[in-house]
Amino acid sequence: CHNRCFYFDEIDSTNAFLLQHGEELQSGDICVAEYQAAGRGRRGRKWQSPYGSHLYFSMHWHFTQGMAQTMGLSLVVACSLVSVLAKFGAENIGVKWPNDIYLDGRKLAGVLIEMSGTADSGCNVVIGIGVNIAMPAAQGELIDQPWSDLQQLNVMPNKTELTLALYQQLLDDLRLFETQGLSAFQSRWNAADIYQGQQVNLQLGEQIIVGEYQGIDEQGGVLLATADGVKQFVGGEITLRKA
Ligand code: BTN
Repeated sequence: CHNRCFYFDEIDSTNAFLLQHGEELQSGDICVAEYQAAGRGRRGRKWQSPYGSHLYFSMHWHFTQGMAQTMGLSLVVACSLVSVLAKFGAENIGVKWPNDIYLDGRKLAGVLIEMSGTADSGCNVVIGIGVNIAMPAAQGELIDQPWSDLQQLNVMPNKTELTLALYQQLLDDLRLFETQGLSAFQSRWNAADIYQGQQVNLQLGEQIIVGEYQGIDEQGGVLLATADGVKQFVGGEITLRKA
């Protein structure tokens, strides 16, 4: 199988590009750019994408069985990123449910999964990954949460090495996910989970649920040990509970 890499100096968004061309693509085709004029983050936020500073990477994937299989996909992708960074010697890489990647407690990378039309023949998915490599000071000031970049690491991969390694790892992991589902990733995820065993708040709409965080189950839901026993949750935002 031969995959294509669409490389741009400038583009609106690498995710948007692959979404627009979904019908002509094969699973594993990627798009990479030096600059995104309209980089997208989760929850409709903008993803700061200064020229040349970071990795802006997207991969197209076709799931033949449609939506059910794509549950948990962002967790798989976060696991892939952790494995890639570990190969380059990065320690202290952690994941925060459902799809943030942290270095020493500060956000290093983000994952945005977007889906184009579902049909009987399955669904096309775009997996977008932004990794901070060398944050320019002016850009860092615009980000409303603690961030980190790969410059903090002793061993810093160059962007081409990182792109290739990520491509390979995603191919392996997505095939594994297709054949074995999320259960194949549960222990990898839980080993990197930054909230393991901690007291957390889960904000679900207006409601706040308090409990001890116990990682994910095989569906990708979060397990909390609450006053009423261990419960599974599939949505919401988790924050550490201040002592
Ligand atoms: C997040 O909010 O944490 C997700 C950020 C995802 C950013 C990446 S950069 C490459 C791809 N193209 C986009 O427009 N967004 C994703």
